[in-house]
Amino acid sequence: MERLEPIFSSQQVSERIAEVASEISQSYKGVQEPVVFVCVLKGAFVFFADLLRRVDLQPEIEFVRLASYGAGTTPSQEVTLSQDVEVSLQGKHVLIVEDIVDTGRTVDYLRGELGKRGVASLEVSCLIHKLERREVDADPNFVCFTVDSGFVVGCGLDYAERYRGLSAINRVIFSQEKE
Ligand code: IMP
Ligand code: MG
Repeated sequence: MERLEPIFSSQQVSERIAEVASEISQSYKGVQEPVVFVCVLKGAFVFFADLLRRVDLQPEIEFVRLASYGAGTTPSQEVTLSQDVEVSLQGKHVLIVEDIVDTGRTVDYLRGELGKRGVASLEVSCLIHKLERREVDADPNFVCFTVDSGFVVGCGLDYAERYRGLSAINRVIFSQEKE
């Protein structure tokens, strides 16, 4: 059985999201075209709801869901959109909101896919930027927290569909792991 070690408290998470929300608000301030926040399901939904309530903007909201085909616990090899946005993104400023950027493949795929649609701009915000397993160059524009390695849960992030509702961000310590 795994156990959890808190790395960012609930208060640190909410303070940091408020800071990033103000960076985002500043960045889109005064744009004429509509702004659309695209939530990447399932993991980003908690961060998305927090961010949305803290920005000084009135973005449209859309949801996408990705299906990745690859072996078990290995990072996503092949990614496809299993749920797409329901509106045209033509001429709009699009902000992809992700839970975590790990290998970078998901964000890389989404940038490619949504970038084909005549957007006015396309940027990425994530709750966590994980550096260890980066495979593709997919640097997010607005990052709340950076971690070097390990597996993290809470604030929407799961391990085998558990722990999404925790309000702190925790590192998972697997029992065979040295502490
Ligand atoms: P990618 O490797 O950057 O394509 O990330 C793929 C997905 O793997 C992320 O959107 C998360 O859903 C999941 N993921 C990667 N690292 C973690 C982690 O530490 N905790 C929970 N989910 C993770
Ligand atoms: Mg995800």
